[in-house]
Amino acid sequence: MLISSSLQTAPVSRTFVQAESTESLLDLHVAGLSTAIQTACLGEADLVPYRVRQALNHALNPVVTERLVSKVLSMPCSAQTYTRHVLHSDPSGMFTVVALRWEEGQASPVHAHYTWCAYRVLQGALVEGHFEWDRSVEQAYLFNRVDRLAGQSVCGHGGMDFIHRLGNEQKPTAVSIHVYGIDAARISTHVNRKLAVKLEVNASK
Ligand SMILES: [Fe+2]
Repeated sequence: MLISSSLQTAPVSRTFVQAESTESLLDLHVAGLSTAIQTACLGEADLVPYRVRQALNHALNPVVTERLVSKVLSMPCSAQTYTRHVLHSDPSGMFTVVALRWEEGQASPVHAHYTWCAYRVLQGALVEGHFEWDRSVEQAYLFNRVDRLAGQSVCGHGGMDFIHRLGNEQKPTAVSIHVYGIDAARISTHVNRKLAVKLEVNASK
């Protein structure tokens, strides 16, 4: 069954703004988290996204989260599209940590991932739409949507079994932290696999 979603009619940002940073803002504001992620990446491959998610949840207590959110909100942003800031680039290229800032009405494209990922909502609320890939028409269709509130975290492996879209449908500004299993140089080109979307939906939700 296809499910209607306000995300499908809300203004959707198809691109993002990325601000450049050369220092590890993560190390400055969340002591020990980059080392914990690095350790998680060296473990069994199937478990990496789950262990990275655990590392996020363990390190990001309320005090640390408030400090990190304050820093992200002080950085450049856009009224047109969500903003991405690189917080940490692993020296060996195993992973990159980014913060995303979402104003009301801003959303990602529908996408799968080329690599594993883990994220946690730090402030506000995101809506995550889940999509199934229809091979017959080579389009994704929405089958579920879930509210992701501050403090909630998600992880997944790369591939077409995990297709989603994240967006902020209401005030306040939402901030989330994401970890991807790829080096920072390829963060713009080798994380998201944007997909065509099947638009026909029914009225149920
Ligand atoms: Fe994603």
